[in-house]
Amino acid sequence: MHDPAVVDGLLAKHAAATDPVLKNKILTALARLYTREAAYDGSWWWGTKPDTRGPYYKPIRWGKSADIEKRFRDVWAAAATDQKAFLTYLANKHRMNLEGIGEVEKTGGKKEKTIGEISIEDIMLALDKLKGDPAKGREIMKTQACAACHSIAENDPKRGPDLNNIGATLDREAIAEAILKPDAGIAPSWVDVTTKDGTTLQGTLAEKSETQIIIRNIAGIPTTLKPADVKDIQTSASTIMGPHLMDALTMNQFADVISYLHSLK
Ligand code: HEC
Repeated sequence: MHDPAVVDGLLAKHAAATDPVLKNKILTALARLYTREAAYDGSWWWGTKPDTRGPYYKPIRWGKSADIEKRFRDVWAAAATDQKAFLTYLANKHRMNLEGIGEVEKTGGKKEKTIGEISIEDIMLALDKLKGDPAKGREIMKTQACAACHSIAENDPKRGPDLNNIGATLDREAIAEAILKPDAGIAPSWVDVTTKDGTTLQGTLAEKSETQIIIRNIAGIPTTLKPADVKDIQTSASTIMGPHLMDALTMNQFADVISYLHSLK
């Protein structure tokens, strides 16, 4: 459908047609072709959650949108009132966002968007500009479920990788990515241990010395092994941290959290 030749053909037909009914039919077809669905790249699906047309639809302009827009504006400039009403109807129905012809959807809106509604790329760009307030971030962290798996204060029970020193090893971007895409990079301390008798354990490497190896599972329960019994210790291939934990925060709150976590060193 979204073939440039189809659009060129319709534009030529529209220019040549004299019957107003036919002309409007062609405009309807052009309005439908104005946006196309973006290829799904995995980064934005939750950004369209409030959209009633389904989770995988993201209308974007494509190569021929500008030509279609120009035709709409030319027709608009010469149109009588009822024809203008028709163009407005088409522009709104197909969400063309044509300033001056139909409604323009506000991208910011009044309500501040939440992390779950912003693509990871945009979050990273925004994070670059927002300093964030560590004191506020500290308060926000108290309302999050992170402590179920992580020690944040020095004397929290030890479970998953410690966050109380996270700013020393990860920069702001890496901390944000660890939260938004937990399985994109696995913390080096989160390991799979294979013993010589073939057992595998997943957990945080709490100690590795000449005399003992200690693995804490996510419940904080330690297993102590003798180095002689251990065949292999490797960064785990998988995490158990879910990706949408901070989706309900606003961008500013998220920046506060990142600044707080980054200050822990
Ligand atoms: C269900 C348990 C669980 C919860 C809840 C959880 N995490 Fe994690 N998290 C893990 C595990 C396991 C790892 C190690 C594997 C990995 O890198 O994903 C990890 C890794 C991380 C890392 C990277 C650590 C490093 O050393 O590289 C960060 C940062 C992090 N989590 C932050 C958070 C924050 C912030 C929250 C709260 C919004 C949170 N986590 C909630 C289990 C959890």
